[in-house]
Amino acid sequence: MKTNSQEIIKFYDYLPETANFQDEVINGLNLNPRFVAPKFFYDEKGSKLFDEICMAPEYYVTRTETKILENNLDEISTYIKDGCLLIEPGSGSSQKVRTLLNASEPHAYLPMDISADYLRCVAEELAQEYPWLEVHAVCVDYTAPIHIPELPHQPYRVAFFPGSSIGNFEPDEAVQFLSNIANLVKNGGGLLIGVDLKKDSQILNNAYNDSEGSNAAFNLNLLDRANSELGANFNLDTFTHKAFYNGDKGRIEMHLISDIDQQVRISDQRFEFKRGQGIHTENSYKYTIEEFQSLARKAGFTPLKCWTDPQSLFSVHYFEIA
Ligand code: AVJ
Repeated sequence: MKTNSQEIIKFYDYLPETANFQDEVINGLNLNPRFVAPKFFYDEKGSKLFDEICMAPEYYVTRTETKILENNLDEISTYIKDGCLLIEPGSGSSQKVRTLLNASEPHAYLPMDISADYLRCVAEELAQEYPWLEVHAVCVDYTAPIHIPELPHQPYRVAFFPGSSIGNFEPDEAVQFLSNIANLVKNGGGLLIGVDLKKDSQILNNAYNDSEGSNAAFNLNLLDRANSELGANFNLDTFTHKAFYNGDKGRIEMHLISDIDQQVRISDQRFEFKRGQGIHTENSYKYTIEEFQSLARKAGFTPLKCWTDPQSLFSVHYFEIA
């Protein structure tokens, strides 16, 4: 692990193995059905395409969550007690936490992200904007068991996990992840988490098939990334983005479907695709408020409060470890 104390932030690099991309793609393409994990969407271009999705009129998720946070900020900030440690796994651009920081006074903020350069950049900018705040940036893959540095103070801890990122986990994995968070925040600690709600399937299908094609570009970028980083030869013109709500499973599924019979090469391996055959690239689970509360209970959390928007599109929950 590398640290450098001469800067305005503390940076802890646990060197998450992003080099695994090759192994995971090859293993995933040898599965039946084929599956490549959504965390690989987020190279620099993918992160930008995701920001573009967030601006699409059909993708209500980000906009609605931000509204819920803003509309209930006074109440929410009472749960983020003064002097606490605020931990954000998968902090990305750290945009939403700014809303919280404008209304509460944590002692320290711990953004965690897999992308080291981006994390450092975002964390330094944030530290400049909030000079009263200690910033400890932790470079980790939060889908693996989470490391956390030993910190000087160990006061009340709150985890912040917005954006319905929890929806990418299978429900049993979500319980496992929430249990890891519970261990991290410990007794008396809390969790503020954004969860997308079950709703009319047309609204869901539109959100993941926006008319500007941002979701399609985001999904197809995975193949572009495989081409440039792994020397694969995917022809992006012969694959089509497919996203639909699977009501039985309660999730949006994203796939990349081959339009033709073809063979694709990745390093020394060849993969046959029949026309209509695809790669499953993402699940995005949707929960009712009650479903999610019972999931969180399994991880040791007690529901204290849930906020939603007037149309019940999205939910923000606050949980505590008793
Ligand atoms: C970042 C996982 C919450 O599931 O809505 C957006 C990712 N995928 N469009 C989601 C995503 C396609 C997003 N999460």
